[in-house]
Amino acid sequence: MAKIIKDVTIIENTLIATDVYRMVLDDLQIAQTADVGRFINLYPKNASTLLPRPISISEISDTTITIVYHVVGCGTAEFSKLKAGDAIRISSALGHGYTIADAKTHILIGGGIGVPPLVELAKRITSNKIAILGYQDEPILVDKFQEAGATVYVATETGSVGFKGNVIDLITSEGILGDYYYACGPKPMLKAVKMHCKDINKPVQLSLEERMGCGYGACVGCVSKINNELLKICVDGPVFLGNEVNF
Ligand code: FES
Repeated sequence: MAKIIKDVTIIENTLIATDVYRMVLDDLQIAQTADVGRFINLYPKNASTLLPRPISISEISDTTITIVYHVVGCGTAEFSKLKAGDAIRISSALGHGYTIADAKTHILIGGGIGVPPLVELAKRITSNKIAILGYQDEPILVDKFQEAGATVYVATETGSVGFKGNVIDLITSEGILGDYYYACGPKPMLKAVKMHCKDINKPVQLSLEERMGCGYGACVGCVSKINNELLKICVDGPVFLGNEVNF
């Protein structure tokens, strides 16, 4: 399907944690392009911020998509000021997302702003699922994973909530084991997840979306070595099999 760019209506744009917002967008056509692990581009109105902002899709309904974004610069700061009823220019869903494997126990590992894309994945997995969610200090969306029927473990770097440490330390400490793994988060976490899955000989899908700039193939800022080839994460990914990613 060709990429669609259009103005859509915001149903909700709420602060859910420090500098983190949840935005719900109402558009049947865009919702029909959405899939788990894909992303959309958001276009700032301010002409000085030329590039769109790629943001992962967190949840999908028949007529809406939900994104969760971190305010990190002028583009996302502009989005954070929008209210329900305002319009925002977005693209249809882009990239290749997660494939749900045929497995008995699925392990979903999210770090920071890499947690939101795993919500829809948790909702769609119908067998056993365990979510391992890591944060610096302030957990988000834990209730969404619980509502999706996942067993949830939380780790924070500061120890403010749950286990003190990172997600791999938590997995090791609790002896958590599954048949198939999915991860989204910062690169050091993805690298550690890849090594862990290699050690226990389990397959993993990694979402490399942290590395994106423009989100539509123009800036080459997202080029990464995949299977010893230089690929664009935004077009060829963001989700790849762990054994294909050359960190
Ligand atoms: Fe710009 Fe991929 S994010 S080319």
